[in-house]
Amino acid sequence: MNQYLKYGRIAPLHHVAHYSGNRLLHEYCFTREGFEEPYSILYLHHPPTGESGQEIYEEARWACPDPVETPVLQRRHFRTGNLEACGTYLTGRTILAFNDDVHYGVCHPQSPETAFFANNDADELFFLYRGRVHLQSLFGKMDLEPGDFLIIPRSCPYRLNFEGNPLLLYVEAHGDVGVPEEFRNPWGQLKLDAPYSERSFKVPEWDAALFESEEPATIIRKRQARFTRTHYPENYFKMEGWDGYVYPHALNLDRIQPKTGRVHLPPSSHMTFAGRGFAVMSFLPRVLDFDQNAVPCPFYHSSVDCDELLFYVSGDFTSRKGVESGSISFHPSGIPHGPHPGAYQSSIGKKDTREKAVMVDTFHPLNLTEAGRAIEDPDYPKSWREERA
Ligand SMILES: [Fe+2]
Repeated sequence: MNQYLKYGRIAPLHHVAHYSGNRLLHEYCFTREGFEEPYSILYLHHPPTGESGQEIYEEARWACPDPVETPVLQRRHFRTGNLEACGTYLTGRTILAFNDDVHYGVCHPQSPETAFFANNDADELFFLYRGRVHLQSLFGKMDLEPGDFLIIPRSCPYRLNFEGNPLLLYVEAHGDVGVPEEFRNPWGQLKLDAPYSERSFKVPEWDAALFESEEPATIIRKRQARFTRTHYPENYFKMEGWDGYVYPHALNLDRIQPKTGRVHLPPSSHMTFAGRGFAVMSFLPRVLDFDQNAVPCPFYHSSVDCDELLFYVSGDFTSRKGVESGSISFHPSGIPHGPHPGAYQSSIGKKDTREKAVMVDTFHPLNLTEAGRAIEDPDYPKSWREERA
């Protein structure tokens, strides 16, 4: 994020003695890209190196997904409604597609987990499709509601508490993920023609229950797809304050301004976030194209450099047959796709759309997984066939 945040009591200068009563606090710099990019500085009561023990953690099995060996090159459809809730916010993740840049899947937890998780391999992007989620993290707490994207910076310890039966889209970004550079002016501020402003984002709040308690903490960290559970005899998170530019942040679909053109705009006009090797687009309720001869339905296309994963959130998905809220379509690079028979013609004259969908385009080919195959709709590739008399 490019917004500076400051909480609690921080020192007047970097790297000077800072006390809580007689206790010298431990200054902890949380940096990105070495020391070159955004950072935050925390003032901890206990040194972050004060672990009492570490052990291998083997309960999370999603970090090394099982690839499908020889998948037929075709359009595919996954029904997340066929996934049973299982595990915790950490273990209950199912990866459907992956490459070196991105692991893409869903998080569908069933049980609570008190341990924190830090993904040292990747930034994480969640999209809350269903349910309510409460985030606690090294940088504060946040309540999430359906339609929220949540970005967790790499290595940031966090945990998700939830109510009901939540389902989150999950993107593990091995490079990074964030606001596209072209949305910012040279001073880092979001430009007036960006689809959202600084005001659109949710940022963490001070978490007194976590930062001011004496509860010992456990953090499960992932590095090179292996998990290690680390125990701290004291509260790792106890602090006086922090400031900086690195922290989890959230953006709701309803806080994004969609774009409309005289005729149909390409998907890239609906960009929300960008990362190494991928981009995220949000398709939102909006007034449709206003030329009197416009065809509002998406045109047929082959994205010859992108594999495309589209998550259907809500609304009437008029261009596609057989998909439902919670569906994910996968259209691999170079395979023509577009509206289902009839949808192209019937869209002419439509004035608006109520659909919401979230798309991830990757610039390198995705591997499919055995876990994805289990929830695949085998009829989807045939659904473009015209019914002939
Ligand atoms: Fe497409």
